[in-house]
Amino acid sequence: MNRRVIIFTIIAMTIALTGLMGIQFYWIRSASAIKEANFRRSVNEAMVKVVQKVERMERTKALAMNPFESVLNFKQHLPYDSILTLTELDSLIGLQLNIRGVDTRYEFCIYKPERQEFLMERTPSFRKDLIEKGNAYVLFQADIYTSPEYLLIYFPREKQFLLTELWGMLLISIILIIVIVTSFMYTIATIFRQKRLSEIKNDFINNMTHEFKTPISTISLACEALSDKDLRSSGEFLDSYLSMIQEENKRLAGMAEKILQTAVIDKGELKMKRELIDLHEIITDVIKNLKIQVEIKDGEIKRRLKASKSQIEGDKVHVTNLVYNLLDNANKYSPKRPMIRISTENVNNGIAMTIEDNGIGISKNEQKKIFDKLYRVPTGNIHEVRGFGLGLSYVKAIVEEHHGKISIESEANKGSKFRVFLPFVIKE
Ligand SMILES: Nc1ncnc2c1ncn2[C@@H]1O[C@H](COP(=O)(O)OP(=O)(O)OP(=O)(O)O)[C@@H](O)[C@H]1O
Ligand SMILES: [Mg+2]
Repeated sequence: MNRRVIIFTIIAMTIALTGLMGIQFYWIRSASAIKEANFRRSVNEAMVKVVQKVERMERTKALAMNPFESVLNFKQHLPYDSILTLTELDSLIGLQLNIRGVDTRYEFCIYKPERQEFLMERTPSFRKDLIEKGNAYVLFQADIYTSPEYLLIYFPREKQFLLTELWGMLLISIILIIVIVTSFMYTIATIFRQKRLSEIKNDFINNMTHEFKTPISTISLACEALSDKDLRSSGEFLDSYLSMIQEENKRLAGMAEKILQTAVIDKGELKMKRELIDLHEIITDVIKNLKIQVEIKDGEIKRRLKASKSQIEGDKVHVTNLVYNLLDNANKYSPKRPMIRISTENVNNGIAMTIEDNGIGISKNEQKKIFDKLYRVPTGNIHEVRGFGLGLSYVKAIVEEHHGKISIESEANKGSKFRVFLPFVIKE
């Protein structure tokens, strides 16, 4: 997939997701508005009924007390405490609300604004809320002698009550949206990872073809020369061509071995021999092999092997390759006069080995990636130094197999310092 298609997909997906979330939000809001309207209607119905009942109770009582006056309705209404008790009013309101499914805590009072007097109330601490936020219903509207009195009702948990039923819906929506967004992000991350991987693989194949081509063409040139009868008769030339073929062949085998080794590590089939090996001996051997390459560039490898106990438990071949890879890198990535320093010392139950160079260094950002398989620090289009990007991933795998540690200190253009710790004994 090319970059534009990926970006287009991301934008389309983001728009679709945002749209979906918007619609979801809108539905939930509509549902909540409908619920709120229903609630208000139920409360109104209930309270109208309560007011009617209170008025009817008053009339019945008044009739019993003074039939003549009350029939003509000349008289002011009776005081509330003689019509009904607070408990009666409470249960009347509770019943009416309950019938209509309003099943939440309520507070009420009978209030006379003219005198700012509370004629009946359930909890005095709710006075302010009742006046500011409560619903008001006029009592005894027909009573033209008394200034109006109101039955106020307030629901302290109205919001929570309205939300309880929406909660389920809201929660499921949120969970679904989280699932969709996470899967989406994961997919995008995977696409980018795959894309990077495929670029790295392509680089590797190009690189490998190049690496293999040089020895192959050298060998074929040498073979061509050897087929010349005149040349063959000269022993000196014969030897030099043969050693050239041998040398190149060794290089080819080494490269093939490196690639195969990585496949083995990938499969988790790395086999380690455990024997007592001398790290100082190994270092000395590797330096012998690399010395010429460093000296060609007018460089130098310095040893400071201070570890008094230089024997460890490990695999000789792998540890040799480990030291070789680190010294090879130090040389390869030091374009001018490599000054390489390798030192050892004994630290808590093992040996710490440091390999320091004065080369191109590695920036902080890249330091995390260099141990990844096939990763090479990009240097524009062309790499001046050949390599597969396998060396350090192999080194890391070997260090881990030996239960050791590897770390790096480096600054771009100043040089690098790799520090490897290998324990004396590999503990399980
Ligand atoms: N001493 C060093 N100085 C600067 N850069 C380094 C050094 N060692 C490693 N690097 C960077 O880390 C990358 C990975 O190193 P690694 O040894 O894994 O691969 P390589 O040297 O490119 O190839 P090869 O598989 O042949 O070793 C290198 O490509 C290089 O960019
Ligand atoms: Mg390398």
